[in-house]
Amino acid sequence: MKAKPATEENIQEAGRIIRGGGIVAFPTETVYGLGADALNPEAVARIFEAKQRPFFDPLIVHIGEMIQLDRVAAMVPGIARECAERFWPGPLTMVLPKSGDIPDIVTAGLSTVAVRMPDHDVASRLLAAAGTPVAAPSANPFGYISPTDADHVASQLGDRVDMILDGGPCVVGVESTIIRLDESGGAVLRHGGLPVEEVEEITGKLAEKETPGEPEAPGQLPYHYSPLTPVTLVADLKDTGKLSSSHGVLAFSTPEIDTGDAHVEVLSPGKSLREAAARLFICMHRLDALKLERIYAEEVPQEGLGRAIMDRLRKAAARQ
Ligand code: TXA
Ligand code: MG
Repeated sequence: MKAKPATEENIQEAGRIIRGGGIVAFPTETVYGLGADALNPEAVARIFEAKQRPFFDPLIVHIGEMIQLDRVAAMVPGIARECAERFWPGPLTMVLPKSGDIPDIVTAGLSTVAVRMPDHDVASRLLAAAGTPVAAPSANPFGYISPTDADHVASQLGDRVDMILDGGPCVVGVESTIIRLDESGGAVLRHGGLPVEEVEEITGKLAEKETPGEPEAPGQLPYHYSPLTPVTLVADLKDTGKLSSSHGVLAFSTPEIDTGDAHVEVLSPGKSLREAAARLFICMHRLDALKLERIYAEEVPQEGLGRAIMDRLRKAAARQ
């Protein structure tokens, strides 16, 4: 698919696509993002599918108006509000406690959410047209470099997105600076388009969180959400043995076995990996909350989003 010029008409169309659960590549001052309605887990799952990520990685939620910050974050420390007022719109992302409105797939199960307000006319107008916070990673396939013009996106992801808005080359050209701020202080999680020295004028000295050799993405880290209940991964639900009310079953599709009194969560009755991805964290939370003896998780096909789902299931099963 070719990129479309960012005319008012096309921006309105892109806003409608996002509201309808679609995915749109759009320019920001840093790099092009691949956006979906941050409040719609299935739409967000489509981002991971398009990027062909082998695991889920938390996404940045983009907002167009300051008022949306309180919708996205459960709590905004005073210092974060000061940073927002000083640097937004701009290439600063802040990691804050997440609100209940943000689905777990956006944050990959973390209790925090990354949020920023981009400084780009097309992005601002798109966010207004969409009328919802927009979750967006950089619009590149997994492992590729971030796109800084619409042609990069078209050649890398063109056939996987619903629309590409062309807003010309990105002025900043590197991703946003990411900081974590809480009552006890702050840390730099990624150096980017806003020099940390400028942020420190407001926050005071920030700790460095990047240690060489550490996995870059929190999605790869062990502190990621896994149920506390022991999980056994089974290729086929027939392998579970007799099930009782102290067992949970995390099934890919409607089980064909007799699950007895076990608590069953079905990821996708129609075997859609997209739906399964969107529901994975919700279903894991639900089963975990029951404090069962064991959860049997059924393997999903290892293709497309199935790789991301299997990565999470394997982590969950490896925990005990
Ligand atoms: O400039 C940018 O930030 C661009 C434009 C599109 O806004 N976006 C971008 O997104 O670079 P992405 O997904 O490529 O990088 C986001 C980074 C990832 O390294 C992710 O791990 C981190 O943000 N991140 C997201 N949520 C987080 C959280 N709750 N805690 C810590 N890190 C988080
Ligand atoms: Mg990226």
